[in-house]
Amino acid sequence: MKKLIGPFTQIIPLTGLPLKGMLNDEQLHIIINGGVLTEDGIILAVDNFETLRKNYTSAQVEEITGDHVLLPGFVDCHTHICFAGSRAKDYAMRNAGKSYLEIAASGGGIWDSVTQTRAATEAELSNLLTKRIARHLAEGLTTIEVKSGYGLSATEELKQLRAIQQAADKTHAHIIPTCLAAHIKPKDFDGAESEYLKHLLNDLLPKIKQQGLTNRVDIFIEQSAFNTSDALFYLSKARQIGFEATVHADQFTTGGTEVAVKARAASADHLEASGDYEIKLLANSDTVAVTLPGASLGLGMGYAPARKLLDAGACLAIASDWNPGSAPMGDLLMQASVMAASEKLNTAEVFAGLTFRAAQALKLNDRGILIKGKLADMQAYPCKDYREILYQQGKLKPVRVWTSENND
Ligand code: NIG
Ligand code: FE
Repeated sequence: MKKLIGPFTQIIPLTGLPLKGMLNDEQLHIIINGGVLTEDGIILAVDNFETLRKNYTSAQVEEITGDHVLLPGFVDCHTHICFAGSRAKDYAMRNAGKSYLEIAASGGGIWDSVTQTRAATEAELSNLLTKRIARHLAEGLTTIEVKSGYGLSATEELKQLRAIQQAADKTHAHIIPTCLAAHIKPKDFDGAESEYLKHLLNDLLPKIKQQGLTNRVDIFIEQSAFNTSDALFYLSKARQIGFEATVHADQFTTGGTEVAVKARAASADHLEASGDYEIKLLANSDTVAVTLPGASLGLGMGYAPARKLLDAGACLAIASDWNPGSAPMGDLLMQASVMAASEKLNTAEVFAGLTFRAAQALKLNDRGILIKGKLADMQAYPCKDYREILYQQGKLKPVRVWTSENND
């Protein structure tokens, strides 16, 4: 059944923009009084609403009244929202002067969330995740990556990934799971970091493959987590058995980006500590640079060098990193708007970073722009001018969100 949705005061389809490098707002294509024709969740046409209405008289019409701006649904390509419990204690300690790494070293941090997540049942975890996904979807996030990484044993990681699969079955959002069993070496593993990674390669990844739970792995490269040579070994072995890679890189110290580029990872995420060398590596690679302003805000640290990355020619995406520790807020539009003001990112660069460039970080090229053949993942904001959206710094929320799974 064909469906015509509109009219929208403006449609910003984000078409015709390059995948990499700086953009300017004059490059944004704007369709005034636009409409979108869809069928089975796929876009058939984006054009003037009245033109579409005349040409497709049999289409069912979803009439939009009042001023609205339509954008592609946002893609959050980096979250850790499958967790139980809270780390409010860590947050208070950080604000009282302790560092993230000090808290981790004294038994708080990621390990605290592992303990709380292990204590939850699969159903409890899946319910907590379902609520977070619903909130994100209502805020325009139509594709959401979700990492494991608070299980940290074969059994507990499989539990987390199954909870993610269950939650994915219950939502119209598109959920992309990632195995982050290489988050830190768990305190109850008897052996070195390299042995833990071998254990994951031998005893966990084959099961994940067999059970079809994900084809993506992530690793945290940092002083408190894994070193660069162990990480490179892990990612190349994981690739041999069919996993795509993504990396937590350069959050506090450098090293991660070099591994990500060598391993031809889909993305290198964080980058707060990246310098000119890392920026150049990313700009000359196909690895997407993912900035996580929510972690900078949560930790009270500087942003990744987003402006420099774009100027150098990198593909820059912006994701929430929503997690119980460093980024508890999870409001991606607010985070991106606030970072844009500091880093001097124009609207086109922010919208690209939240849509088709973020989709590239997940190796998805079927979404993130509004054009014939792409998924009908879309969101409508109650305003006349697209510039209102970042101007209101996350307080203006979409009033209607469509995904290809609820579009008929
Ligand atoms: O992306 N840096 C490592 N992992 C997460 C934090 C996870 C946590 O603190 O629970 C991050 O910031
Ligand atoms: Fe993260």
